[in-house]
Amino acid sequence: MIRPIVRYGDEVLRRRAEDVAELTAEVRSLIDDMVETMYAAPGVGLAAPQVGVPLRVFVADPSVGRNVDDLVVLVNPAVVEKEGVQSEEEGCLSVPGFAAKVRRPSRLVVRGLDRDGETIEVEGTGLLARALQHELDHLDGSLFLDRLRGLRRELIVRKIHKLQRTGKW
Ligand code: NI
Repeated sequence: MIRPIVRYGDEVLRRRAEDVAELTAEVRSLIDDMVETMYAAPGVGLAAPQVGVPLRVFVADPSVGRNVDDLVVLVNPAVVEKEGVQSEEEGCLSVPGFAAKVRRPSRLVVRGLDRDGETIEVEGTGLLARALQHELDHLDGSLFLDRLRGLRRELIVRKIHKLQRTGKW
């Protein structure tokens, strides 16, 4: 089931999401819905707070569904290794219509649980490293806008506020 994606301004995006205590049928159903919602958007990643659920779960797929092996599902993820720097244009399904260059690690290794509750490690470089870090940020209540310099961030936030005032957000 495709779930509605919450946007900048929603309080759930600003909270630290909570650990998943157990991979229940409900959590698996959340994961399946998140994958479907990400592909429908379409996007390269989606974190549970973006569908209004404050749990530490995210999905990512740099191929956006073109390659089934590229789908990453991580529950209670933690960074194991981080190195390098890349700076590329990036956006977010919760901040539609805006993009900016964001500094991210060029390589990231993340450990967590998969959909079956098994411990897995995912190594990402390039776009996957960027997506993993972006989604991890969501679980800590942080958005890509928070990583921009003051003026660039202010410009986007001002435009969003204008859209909010005119009911277009
Ligand atoms: Ni995002």
